Amino acid sequence: MALNTINPTTTTAWNKLKTHFSVIEKTSIKELFEQNTHRFEGFSIRYPSLLVDYSKNKITAETIQLLIDLAKEMNVDEAIQKMFRGDIINQTEQRAVLHTALRNRSNEEVLVDGVDVMPQINEVLEQMKSFSEKVISGEWKGFSGKEITDVVNIGIGGSDLGPVMVTEALKYYKTRLNLHFVSNIDGTHLAETFKSINPETTLFIVASKTFTTQETMTNAFSAKEWLLKSEATEADVAKHFVALSTNANGVAEFGIDTANMFQFWDWVGGRYSLWSAIGLSICLGVGFDKFEELLEGAHEMDIHFRTETLDQNIPVVLALLGIWYNNFFKAESVALLPYEQYLSRFAAYFQQGDMESNGKYVGRDGEKVKYQTGPVIWGEPGTNGQHAFYQLIHQGTKLIPADFIAGANSLNDLGDHHAKLLSNFFAQTEALAFGKDEKTVIDELKKAGKTKEEIDFLTAFKVFEGNRPTNSIMYEVLTPKVLGNLIAMYEHKIFVQGVIWNIFSFDQWGVELGKQLANVILPELENDERVESHDSSTNGLINAYKYWRK
Ligand code: F6P
Repeated sequence: MALNTINPTTTTAWNKLKTHFSVIEKTSIKELFEQNTHRFEGFSIRYPSLLVDYSKNKITAETIQLLIDLAKEMNVDEAIQKMFRGDIINQTEQRAVLHTALRNRSNEEVLVDGVDVMPQINEVLEQMKSFSEKVISGEWKGFSGKEITDVVNIGIGGSDLGPVMVTEALKYYKTRLNLHFVSNIDGTHLAETFKSINPETTLFIVASKTFTTQETMTNAFSAKEWLLKSEATEADVAKHFVALSTNANGVAEFGIDTANMFQFWDWVGGRYSLWSAIGLSICLGVGFDKFEELLEGAHEMDIHFRTETLDQNIPVVLALLGIWYNNFFKAESVALLPYEQYLSRFAAYFQQGDMESNGKYVGRDGEKVKYQTGPVIWGEPGTNGQHAFYQLIHQGTKLIPADFIAGANSLNDLGDHHAKLLSNFFAQTEALAFGKDEKTVIDELKKAGKTKEEIDFLTAFKVFEGNRPTNSIMYEVLTPKVLGNLIAMYEHKIFVQGVIWNIFSFDQWGVELGKQLANVILPELENDERVESHDSSTNGLINAYKYWRK
Protein backbone atom coordinates (compact mmCIF):
# COMPACT_ATOMS: atom_id res chain seq x y z
CA MET A 1 0.00 0.00 0.00
CA ALA A 2 1.12 3.52 -0.81
CA LEU A 3 1.67 6.28 1.75
CA ASN A 4 -1.34 8.44 2.65
CA THR A 5 -1.64 11.88 1.16
CA ILE A 6 -2.51 14.47 3.76
CA ASN A 7 -1.58 18.13 3.77
CA PRO A 8 0.04 18.49 7.23
CA THR A 9 -1.08 22.11 7.57
CA THR A 10 -4.72 20.99 7.53
CA THR A 11 -4.34 18.77 10.61
CA THR A 12 -5.70 19.77 14.00
CA ALA A 13 -2.28 19.33 15.57
CA TRP A 14 -0.60 21.69 13.07
CA ASN A 15 -3.10 24.40 13.85
CA LYS A 16 -2.72 23.90 17.59
CA LEU A 17 1.05 24.05 17.11
CA LYS A 18 0.65 27.42 15.41
CA THR A 19 -1.13 28.84 18.45
CA HIS A 20 1.29 27.14 20.81
CA PHE A 21 4.21 28.59 18.84
CA SER A 22 3.09 32.14 19.59
CA VAL A 23 3.49 31.35 23.30
CA ILE A 24 6.78 29.45 23.09
CA GLU A 25 8.27 32.07 20.80
CA LYS A 26 8.20 34.52 23.68
CA THR A 27 9.80 32.11 26.17
CA SER A 28 13.53 31.50 26.36
CA ILE A 29 15.31 28.20 26.89
CA LYS A 30 16.73 29.76 30.07
CA GLU A 31 13.22 30.40 31.42
CA LEU A 32 12.15 26.89 30.48
CA PHE A 33 15.04 25.49 32.54
CA GLU A 34 14.14 27.74 35.46
CA GLN A 35 10.52 26.57 35.32
CA ASN A 36 11.50 22.90 35.20
CA THR A 37 14.73 21.80 36.85
CA HIS A 38 14.31 18.22 35.59
CA ARG A 39 14.28 18.89 31.86
CA PHE A 40 17.16 16.49 31.22
CA GLU A 41 15.20 13.57 32.70
CA GLY A 42 12.05 14.55 30.81
CA PHE A 43 13.64 15.31 27.48
CA SER A 44 16.31 12.69 26.90
CA ILE A 45 16.25 9.14 25.55
CA ARG A 46 18.87 6.43 25.91
CA TYR A 47 18.87 3.67 23.30
CA PRO A 48 20.67 1.39 22.42
CA SER A 49 24.16 2.82 22.72
CA LEU A 50 23.13 6.44 22.30
CA LEU A 51 22.10 9.12 24.75
CA VAL A 52 20.02 11.78 23.05
CA ASP A 53 19.49 14.89 25.16
CA TYR A 54 16.95 17.20 23.54
CA SER A 55 16.20 19.29 26.61
CA LYS A 56 18.02 22.39 25.27
CA ASN A 57 15.22 23.03 22.79
CA LYS A 58 12.45 25.61 22.71
CA ILE A 59 9.88 23.07 23.84
CA THR A 60 7.66 22.12 26.74
CA ALA A 61 5.87 18.85 27.39
CA GLU A 62 2.91 20.38 25.56
CA THR A 63 5.04 21.04 22.47
CA ILE A 64 6.13 17.41 22.38
CA GLN A 65 2.56 16.23 22.88
CA LEU A 66 1.31 18.38 20.00
CA LEU A 67 4.14 17.23 17.75
CA ILE A 68 3.34 13.60 18.59
CA ASP A 69 -0.30 14.34 17.76
CA LEU A 70 0.88 15.67 14.41
CA ALA A 71 2.82 12.45 13.78
CA LYS A 72 -0.29 10.46 14.66
CA GLU A 73 -2.54 12.48 12.39
CA MET A 74 -0.02 12.03 9.59
CA ASN A 75 -0.04 8.24 10.16
CA VAL A 76 3.69 8.03 10.86
CA ASP A 77 3.24 4.71 12.67
CA GLU A 78 1.57 3.15 9.67
CA ALA A 79 4.16 4.61 7.27
CA ILE A 80 6.97 3.00 9.31
CA GLN A 81 5.32 -0.41 9.03
CA LYS A 82 4.75 0.10 5.29
CA MET A 83 8.43 0.82 4.71
CA PHE A 84 9.66 -2.19 6.70
CA ARG A 85 7.28 -4.62 5.07
CA GLY A 86 8.24 -3.62 1.54
CA ASP A 87 5.21 -1.66 0.35
CA ILE A 88 5.72 0.42 -2.79
CA ILE A 89 6.27 3.70 -0.94
CA ASN A 90 8.64 5.10 -3.59
CA GLN A 91 5.64 5.65 -5.84
CA THR A 92 7.16 7.80 -8.56
CA GLU A 93 9.63 4.99 -9.29
CA GLN A 94 7.19 2.22 -8.32
CA ARG A 95 9.65 0.69 -5.86
CA ALA A 96 9.76 -0.67 -2.35
CA VAL A 97 12.26 0.95 0.03
CA LEU A 98 14.14 -1.81 1.81
CA HIS A 99 17.59 -0.72 2.93
CA THR A 100 16.41 -2.03 6.31
CA ALA A 101 16.29 -5.57 4.85
CA LEU A 102 20.00 -5.32 4.01
CA ARG A 103 20.79 -5.10 7.72
CA ASN A 104 18.00 -7.37 8.92
CA ARG A 105 20.14 -9.47 11.24
CA SER A 106 17.06 -11.35 12.52
CA ASN A 107 16.87 -12.87 9.05
CA GLU A 108 13.07 -12.89 9.26
CA GLU A 109 11.56 -12.95 5.81
CA VAL A 110 11.02 -9.68 3.93
CA LEU A 111 8.79 -10.01 0.89
CA VAL A 112 9.10 -8.09 -2.37
CA ASP A 113 6.47 -9.15 -4.92
CA GLY A 114 5.81 -12.20 -2.77
CA VAL A 115 9.46 -13.32 -2.77
CA ASP A 116 11.61 -13.35 0.37
CA VAL A 117 14.67 -11.19 -0.36
CA MET A 118 16.72 -12.39 2.62
CA PRO A 119 18.35 -15.38 0.83
CA GLN A 120 19.71 -13.14 -1.97
CA ILE A 121 20.91 -10.55 0.56
CA ASN A 122 22.72 -13.25 2.53
CA GLU A 123 24.24 -14.67 -0.63
CA VAL A 124 25.76 -11.30 -1.59
CA LEU A 125 26.99 -10.81 1.99
CA GLU A 126 28.75 -14.20 1.76
CA GLN A 127 30.29 -13.15 -1.56
CA MET A 128 31.48 -9.88 -0.01
CA LYS A 129 32.94 -11.75 2.96
CA SER A 130 34.83 -14.27 0.91
CA PHE A 131 36.12 -11.69 -1.60
CA SER A 132 37.26 -9.20 1.01
CA GLU A 133 39.01 -11.91 2.99
CA LYS A 134 40.86 -13.06 -0.13
CA VAL A 135 42.04 -9.53 -0.93
CA ILE A 136 43.01 -8.66 2.66
CA SER A 137 44.89 -11.94 3.15
CA GLY A 138 46.80 -11.45 -0.08
CA GLU A 139 45.36 -14.57 -1.70
CA TRP A 140 43.83 -12.39 -4.47
CA LYS A 141 46.73 -11.40 -6.70
CA GLY A 142 47.22 -8.75 -9.37
CA PHE A 143 48.36 -9.55 -12.93
CA SER A 144 52.03 -9.82 -12.00
CA GLY A 145 51.36 -12.12 -9.04
CA LYS A 146 51.70 -9.42 -6.40
CA GLU A 147 49.25 -8.87 -3.54
CA ILE A 148 46.74 -6.03 -3.78
CA THR A 149 47.84 -3.04 -1.70
CA ASP A 150 45.44 -0.31 -2.88
CA VAL A 151 41.74 -0.25 -3.58
CA VAL A 152 40.12 2.55 -5.60
CA ASN A 153 36.36 2.90 -5.30
CA ILE A 154 35.01 4.65 -8.37
CA GLY A 155 31.48 5.91 -7.74
CA ILE A 156 29.57 9.08 -7.00
CA GLY A 157 26.72 10.24 -4.74
CA GLY A 158 25.35 7.28 -2.83
CA SER A 159 27.94 5.02 -4.44
CA ASP A 160 30.72 7.08 -2.91
CA LEU A 161 29.66 9.22 0.06
CA GLY A 162 28.59 6.34 2.33
CA PRO A 163 31.77 4.28 1.91
CA VAL A 164 33.91 7.46 2.16
CA MET A 165 32.21 8.50 5.39
CA VAL A 166 32.23 5.03 6.98
CA THR A 167 35.82 4.10 6.09
CA GLU A 168 36.91 7.43 7.55
CA ALA A 169 34.73 6.93 10.64
CA LEU A 170 36.16 3.43 11.19
CA LYS A 171 39.73 4.22 10.20
CA TYR A 172 40.84 3.09 13.64
CA TYR A 173 40.04 -0.49 12.52
CA LYS A 174 41.85 -0.16 9.19
CA THR A 175 43.13 -3.26 7.39
CA ARG A 176 46.48 -3.26 5.57
CA LEU A 177 44.77 -2.01 2.39
CA ASN A 178 44.94 1.63 1.34
CA LEU A 179 41.55 2.93 0.26
CA HIS A 180 41.07 5.66 -2.34
CA PHE A 181 37.82 7.16 -3.56
CA VAL A 182 37.40 8.76 -6.95
CA SER A 183 34.08 10.43 -7.63
CA ASN A 184 34.54 13.71 -9.50
CA ILE A 185 34.52 13.66 -13.31
CA ASP A 186 37.24 16.30 -13.07
CA GLY A 187 40.21 14.31 -14.38
CA THR A 188 42.29 15.73 -11.56
CA HIS A 189 40.63 13.40 -9.08
CA LEU A 190 41.73 10.29 -10.95
CA ALA A 191 45.06 11.71 -12.12
CA GLU A 192 46.08 12.61 -8.56
CA THR A 193 45.05 9.13 -7.39
CA PHE A 194 47.19 7.48 -10.12
CA LYS A 195 50.22 9.22 -8.62
CA SER A 196 50.02 7.13 -5.46
CA ILE A 197 49.07 3.71 -6.87
CA ASN A 198 50.72 0.96 -8.90
CA PRO A 199 48.72 -0.91 -11.59
CA GLU A 200 50.23 -4.23 -10.48
CA THR A 201 48.79 -3.93 -6.97
CA THR A 202 45.60 -1.90 -7.41
CA LEU A 203 42.03 -3.14 -7.37
CA PHE A 204 39.33 -0.91 -8.84
CA ILE A 205 35.76 -1.17 -7.60
CA VAL A 206 33.29 0.33 -10.05
CA ALA A 207 30.33 1.22 -7.83
CA SER A 208 27.19 2.30 -9.64
CA LYS A 209 23.62 1.23 -9.08
CA THR A 210 22.66 2.05 -12.68
CA PHE A 211 26.11 1.55 -14.28
CA THR A 212 25.27 4.46 -16.56
CA THR A 213 26.33 7.44 -14.42
CA GLN A 214 28.55 9.66 -16.58
CA GLU A 215 31.10 10.50 -13.89
CA THR A 216 31.57 6.90 -12.80
CA MET A 217 31.67 5.38 -16.27
CA THR A 218 34.14 8.00 -17.52
CA ASN A 219 36.43 7.44 -14.53
CA ALA A 220 36.10 3.66 -14.87
CA PHE A 221 37.06 3.70 -18.58
CA SER A 222 40.05 5.94 -17.86
CA ALA A 223 41.13 3.66 -15.02
CA LYS A 224 40.91 0.64 -17.32
CA GLU A 225 42.96 2.46 -19.95
CA TRP A 226 45.57 3.31 -17.30
CA LEU A 227 45.76 -0.35 -16.26
CA LEU A 228 46.13 -1.49 -19.87
CA LYS A 229 48.98 1.00 -20.42
CA SER A 230 51.01 -1.11 -17.99
CA GLU A 231 52.02 -4.71 -18.74
CA ALA A 232 48.46 -5.85 -18.06
CA THR A 233 46.37 -7.37 -20.85
CA GLU A 234 42.58 -7.42 -21.40
CA ALA A 235 42.53 -10.85 -19.74
CA ASP A 236 44.04 -9.28 -16.60
CA VAL A 237 41.17 -6.80 -16.20
CA ALA A 238 39.25 -9.44 -14.21
CA LYS A 239 41.98 -9.41 -11.55
CA HIS A 240 41.81 -5.64 -11.16
CA PHE A 241 38.16 -4.67 -11.67
CA VAL A 242 35.04 -5.65 -9.82
CA ALA A 243 31.59 -4.08 -10.09
CA LEU A 244 28.84 -3.23 -7.60
CA SER A 245 25.61 -2.75 -9.45
CA THR A 246 22.01 -3.67 -10.18
CA ASN A 247 22.79 -3.68 -13.93
CA ALA A 248 24.42 -6.97 -15.01
CA ASN A 249 24.25 -6.10 -18.74
CA GLY A 250 26.02 -2.78 -18.20
CA VAL A 251 28.73 -4.51 -16.16
CA ALA A 252 29.31 -7.15 -18.88
CA GLU A 253 29.40 -4.48 -21.59
CA PHE A 254 32.12 -2.60 -19.69
CA GLY A 255 34.18 -5.77 -19.78
CA ILE A 256 33.95 -6.84 -16.14
CA ASP A 257 33.30 -10.54 -15.67
CA THR A 258 29.84 -10.80 -14.05
CA ALA A 259 31.40 -13.39 -11.73
CA ASN A 260 33.15 -10.37 -10.21
CA MET A 261 29.93 -8.44 -9.85
CA PHE A 262 28.28 -7.86 -6.48
CA GLN A 263 24.61 -7.36 -6.94
CA PHE A 264 22.02 -5.21 -5.27
CA TRP A 265 18.47 -4.36 -6.18
CA ASP A 266 16.24 -1.51 -7.28
CA TRP A 267 14.59 -1.36 -3.84
CA VAL A 268 17.89 -0.02 -2.45
CA GLY A 269 18.05 3.75 -2.91
CA GLY A 270 21.47 5.13 -3.90
CA ARG A 271 21.82 7.27 -0.77
CA TYR A 272 20.75 4.31 1.38
CA SER A 273 23.06 1.80 -0.29
CA LEU A 274 26.13 1.61 1.95
CA TRP A 275 24.50 -1.41 3.61
CA SER A 276 24.42 -3.26 0.28
CA ALA A 277 27.18 -4.43 -2.05
CA ILE A 278 28.13 -0.74 -2.22
CA GLY A 279 29.70 -1.43 1.19
CA LEU A 280 32.38 -3.66 -0.39
CA SER A 281 35.04 -0.95 -0.03
CA ILE A 282 34.08 -0.76 3.68
CA CYS A 283 34.65 -4.53 4.00
CA LEU A 284 38.05 -4.16 2.35
CA GLY A 285 38.95 -1.08 4.37
CA VAL A 286 38.02 -2.30 7.84
CA GLY A 287 37.26 -6.00 7.45
CA PHE A 288 34.00 -7.89 6.96
CA ASP A 289 33.49 -8.46 10.71
CA LYS A 290 33.40 -4.70 11.29
CA PHE A 291 30.98 -4.27 8.38
CA GLU A 292 28.71 -6.85 10.03
CA GLU A 293 28.88 -4.94 13.32
CA LEU A 294 27.87 -1.81 11.42
CA LEU A 295 24.84 -3.67 10.04
CA GLU A 296 24.00 -4.87 13.54
CA GLY A 297 24.10 -1.32 14.88
CA ALA A 298 21.72 -0.15 12.18
CA HIS A 299 19.46 -3.14 12.82
CA GLU A 300 19.28 -2.23 16.52
CA MET A 301 18.08 1.24 15.56
CA ASP A 302 15.61 -0.28 13.09
CA ILE A 303 14.06 -2.35 15.88
CA HIS A 304 13.83 0.70 18.11
CA PHE A 305 12.26 2.76 15.32
CA ARG A 306 9.78 0.07 14.39
CA THR A 307 8.65 -0.88 17.87
CA GLU A 308 9.08 2.08 20.24
CA THR A 309 6.21 4.41 21.05
CA LEU A 310 6.41 7.71 19.19
CA ASP A 311 7.36 9.79 22.24
CA GLN A 312 10.29 7.51 23.13
CA ASN A 313 11.34 6.94 19.54
CA ILE A 314 14.63 8.75 18.85
CA PRO A 315 14.28 9.24 15.07
CA VAL A 316 10.65 10.34 15.49
CA VAL A 317 11.45 12.86 18.24
CA LEU A 318 14.40 14.29 16.26
CA ALA A 319 12.24 14.53 13.15
CA LEU A 320 9.48 16.36 15.02
CA LEU A 321 11.93 18.82 16.57
CA GLY A 322 13.27 19.49 13.08
CA ILE A 323 9.74 20.20 11.85
CA TRP A 324 9.13 22.50 14.82
CA TYR A 325 12.06 24.70 13.80
CA ASN A 326 11.67 24.34 10.04
CA ASN A 327 7.97 25.08 9.82
CA PHE A 328 7.16 27.20 12.85
CA PHE A 329 10.41 29.04 13.65
CA LYS A 330 11.24 29.18 9.89
CA ALA A 331 14.79 27.93 10.43
CA GLU A 332 16.39 27.23 7.06
CA SER A 333 19.26 24.96 7.93
CA VAL A 334 20.48 22.37 10.40
CA ALA A 335 24.10 21.96 11.48
CA LEU A 336 25.58 18.53 12.24
CA LEU A 337 28.57 19.07 14.49
CA PRO A 338 30.52 15.96 15.47
CA TYR A 339 33.11 16.37 18.23
CA GLU A 340 34.80 13.30 16.78
CA GLN A 341 37.48 13.64 14.12
CA TYR A 342 36.56 10.24 12.71
CA LEU A 343 33.15 11.69 11.79
CA SER A 344 34.68 14.40 9.63
CA ARG A 345 32.58 13.35 6.60
CA PHE A 346 29.36 12.80 8.53
CA ALA A 347 27.69 16.10 7.60
CA ALA A 348 28.76 15.74 3.95
CA TYR A 349 27.20 12.28 3.88
CA PHE A 350 23.90 13.51 5.28
CA GLN A 351 23.84 16.42 2.88
CA GLN A 352 22.93 13.86 0.26
CA GLY A 353 20.93 11.71 2.69
CA ASP A 354 18.70 14.57 3.75
CA MET A 355 18.72 17.09 0.90
CA GLU A 356 18.32 14.57 -1.93
CA SER A 357 15.50 12.94 0.05
CA ASN A 358 13.53 15.93 1.29
CA GLY A 359 14.56 18.81 -0.97
CA LYS A 360 11.23 18.74 -2.83
CA TYR A 361 8.40 21.19 -3.49
CA VAL A 362 5.85 18.78 -4.95
CA GLY A 363 3.66 16.98 -2.45
CA ARG A 364 2.49 13.38 -2.68
CA ASP A 365 -0.75 14.73 -4.16
CA GLY A 366 1.22 16.17 -7.10
CA GLU A 367 0.55 19.75 -5.98
CA LYS A 368 3.13 22.36 -5.06
CA VAL A 369 3.38 22.50 -1.26
CA LYS A 370 2.69 25.80 0.49
CA TYR A 371 5.02 25.17 3.42
CA GLN A 372 8.72 24.52 3.87
CA THR A 373 10.20 21.03 3.35
CA GLY A 374 13.80 19.83 3.78
CA PRO A 375 16.40 22.14 5.35
CA VAL A 376 19.95 22.84 4.23
CA ILE A 377 22.30 20.44 6.01
CA TRP A 378 25.84 21.47 6.78
CA GLY A 379 28.58 21.08 9.36
CA GLU A 380 32.17 20.32 10.20
CA PRO A 381 33.86 18.55 13.07
CA GLY A 382 33.71 20.18 16.48
CA THR A 383 36.31 22.68 17.44
CA ASN A 384 37.27 23.42 13.82
CA GLY A 385 33.76 24.80 13.35
CA GLN A 386 34.11 26.87 16.53
CA HIS A 387 36.97 28.78 14.92
CA ALA A 388 35.10 29.22 11.66
CA PHE A 389 31.31 29.57 11.61
CA TYR A 390 30.13 29.34 15.23
CA GLN A 391 30.15 33.15 15.46
CA LEU A 392 27.04 33.15 13.28
CA ILE A 393 25.36 30.40 15.28
CA HIS A 394 25.95 32.33 18.53
CA GLN A 395 25.34 35.92 17.46
CA GLY A 396 24.03 35.86 13.89
CA THR A 397 20.52 36.79 12.77
CA LYS A 398 19.64 33.26 11.68
CA LEU A 399 18.35 30.46 13.84
CA ILE A 400 20.50 27.37 13.29
CA PRO A 401 19.30 24.32 15.20
CA ALA A 402 22.33 22.09 15.69
CA ASP A 403 23.08 18.49 16.62
CA PHE A 404 26.20 18.08 18.73
CA ILE A 405 27.63 14.55 18.53
CA ALA A 406 30.42 13.12 20.72
CA GLY A 407 31.87 10.00 22.30
CA ALA A 408 32.61 9.86 26.02
CA ASN A 409 35.89 8.17 25.13
CA SER A 410 38.43 8.65 22.40
CA LEU A 411 39.90 5.74 20.48
CA ASN A 412 43.19 7.63 20.65
CA ASP A 413 43.84 8.72 24.20
CA LEU A 414 46.47 11.38 23.95
CA GLY A 415 47.19 13.38 27.09
CA ASP A 416 44.21 15.53 27.99
CA HIS A 417 43.02 16.06 24.40
CA HIS A 418 39.72 14.29 24.92
CA ALA A 419 38.76 16.09 28.12
CA LYS A 420 39.51 19.38 26.36
CA LEU A 421 37.48 18.35 23.32
CA LEU A 422 34.51 17.31 25.45
CA SER A 423 34.70 20.44 27.59
CA ASN A 424 34.07 22.34 24.37
CA PHE A 425 31.25 19.98 23.41
CA PHE A 426 29.47 20.63 26.74
CA ALA A 427 30.29 24.34 26.84
CA GLN A 428 28.98 25.14 23.38
CA THR A 429 25.43 23.87 23.92
CA GLU A 430 25.40 25.57 27.33
CA ALA A 431 26.51 28.86 25.77
CA LEU A 432 24.03 28.55 22.91
CA ALA A 433 21.12 27.85 25.22
CA PHE A 434 21.81 30.26 28.07
CA GLY A 435 24.04 32.95 26.56
CA LYS A 436 25.57 35.73 28.65
CA ASP A 437 23.44 38.62 29.89
CA GLU A 438 24.25 42.32 30.02
CA LYS A 439 24.89 42.41 33.76
CA THR A 440 27.49 39.65 33.55
CA VAL A 441 29.20 41.38 30.63
CA ILE A 442 29.36 44.73 32.50
CA ASP A 443 30.73 43.04 35.63
CA GLU A 444 33.40 41.29 33.58
CA LEU A 445 34.39 44.52 31.83
CA LYS A 446 34.59 46.36 35.15
CA LYS A 447 36.76 43.60 36.56
CA ALA A 448 39.01 43.91 33.51
CA GLY A 449 39.51 47.60 34.41
CA LYS A 450 37.63 49.12 31.43
CA THR A 451 36.47 52.74 31.57
CA LYS A 452 32.76 53.65 31.58
CA GLU A 453 32.99 54.77 27.92
CA GLU A 454 34.63 51.52 26.94
CA ILE A 455 32.01 49.52 28.84
CA ASP A 456 29.15 51.49 27.27
CA PHE A 457 30.56 50.85 23.83
CA LEU A 458 31.57 47.20 24.20
CA THR A 459 28.65 45.73 26.17
CA ALA A 460 26.22 45.17 23.28
CA PHE A 461 28.86 43.26 21.29
CA LYS A 462 29.72 41.00 24.19
CA VAL A 463 26.20 40.00 25.17
CA PHE A 464 25.02 36.55 24.03
CA GLU A 465 21.25 36.32 23.78
CA GLY A 466 21.40 32.53 23.97
CA ASN A 467 18.11 30.77 23.30
CA ARG A 468 19.72 28.81 20.46
CA PRO A 469 18.44 25.21 20.32
CA THR A 470 20.63 22.12 20.21
CA ASN A 471 20.45 18.36 20.60
CA SER A 472 23.36 16.54 22.22
CA ILE A 473 23.98 12.98 21.06
CA MET A 474 26.51 10.98 23.06
CA TYR A 475 27.87 7.45 22.98
CA GLU A 476 30.48 5.59 24.97
CA VAL A 477 33.05 5.14 22.22
CA LEU A 478 32.85 5.11 18.42
CA THR A 479 32.47 1.46 17.39
CA PRO A 480 31.02 0.12 14.11
CA LYS A 481 27.83 -0.65 16.04
CA VAL A 482 27.50 2.89 17.35
CA LEU A 483 28.11 4.23 13.86
CA GLY A 484 25.34 1.93 12.57
CA ASN A 485 23.03 3.30 15.30
CA LEU A 486 23.84 6.87 14.30
CA ILE A 487 23.42 6.47 10.56
CA ALA A 488 20.13 4.57 10.84
CA MET A 489 18.90 7.15 13.36
CA TYR A 490 19.33 9.98 10.84
CA GLU A 491 17.97 7.90 7.95
CA HIS A 492 14.76 7.31 9.87
CA LYS A 493 14.56 10.92 11.01
CA ILE A 494 14.63 11.95 7.34
CA PHE A 495 11.94 9.38 6.50
CA VAL A 496 9.58 10.62 9.24
CA GLN A 497 10.01 14.21 8.10
CA GLY A 498 9.23 13.25 4.50
CA VAL A 499 6.09 11.43 5.64
CA ILE A 500 4.91 14.51 7.55
CA TRP A 501 5.83 16.96 4.78
CA ASN A 502 3.76 14.74 2.47
CA ILE A 503 6.57 14.35 -0.06
CA PHE A 504 8.25 11.36 -1.70
CA SER A 505 11.61 10.98 0.04
CA PHE A 506 13.04 8.19 -2.08
CA ASP A 507 13.20 9.60 -5.59
CA GLN A 508 15.55 12.33 -6.88
CA TRP A 509 14.10 13.84 -10.06
CA GLY A 510 15.78 17.13 -9.21
CA VAL A 511 19.18 15.85 -10.34
CA GLU A 512 18.00 14.98 -13.86
CA LEU A 513 17.66 18.34 -15.67
CA GLY A 514 21.29 19.38 -15.23
CA LYS A 515 22.42 15.96 -16.54
CA GLN A 516 20.15 16.29 -19.59
CA LEU A 517 21.38 19.77 -20.45
CA ALA A 518 25.03 18.72 -20.02
CA ASN A 519 24.41 15.99 -22.59
CA VAL A 520 23.17 18.62 -25.05
CA ILE A 521 26.11 20.93 -24.35
CA LEU A 522 28.87 18.29 -24.52
CA PRO A 523 28.79 17.87 -28.34
CA GLU A 524 28.68 21.66 -28.72
CA LEU A 525 32.07 21.85 -27.00
CA GLU A 526 33.71 19.63 -29.59
CA ASN A 527 34.14 22.26 -32.33
CA ASP A 528 35.20 25.90 -32.64
CA GLU A 529 31.86 27.26 -33.82
CA ARG A 530 30.22 29.97 -31.80
CA VAL A 531 27.20 28.76 -29.89
CA GLU A 532 23.97 30.74 -30.23
CA SER A 533 21.36 28.17 -29.21
CA HIS A 534 21.08 29.01 -25.49
CA ASP A 535 20.25 32.08 -23.45
CA SER A 536 22.80 34.92 -23.63
CA SER A 537 24.50 33.99 -20.37
CA THR A 538 25.03 30.32 -21.28
CA ASN A 539 26.07 31.24 -24.85
CA GLY A 540 28.49 33.84 -23.47
CA LEU A 541 30.08 31.41 -21.06
CA ILE A 542 30.44 28.60 -23.63
CA ASN A 543 31.94 30.98 -26.17
CA ALA A 544 34.40 32.35 -23.62
CA TYR A 545 35.40 28.76 -22.83
CA LYS A 546 35.97 28.06 -26.54
CA TYR A 547 38.06 31.19 -26.88
CA TRP A 548 40.29 30.20 -23.97
CA ARG A 549 40.53 26.57 -25.06
CA LYS A 550 42.15 27.59 -28.42
O1 F6P B 1 22.84 12.18 -7.79
C1 F6P B 1 21.88 11.35 -8.34
C2 F6P B 1 22.14 9.89 -8.09
O2 F6P B 1 21.18 9.17 -8.77
C3 F6P B 1 22.17 9.51 -6.61
O3 F6P B 1 20.93 9.31 -6.07
C4 F6P B 1 23.03 8.30 -6.63
O4 F6P B 1 23.48 8.01 -5.37
C5 F6P B 1 24.10 8.73 -7.60
O5 F6P B 1 23.42 9.50 -8.57
C6 F6P B 1 24.91 7.65 -8.23
O6 F6P B 1 24.16 6.79 -9.04
P1 F6P B 1 24.70 5.39 -9.50
O7 F6P B 1 24.99 4.57 -8.29
O8 F6P B 1 23.62 4.79 -10.34
O9 F6P B 1 25.96 5.61 -10.30
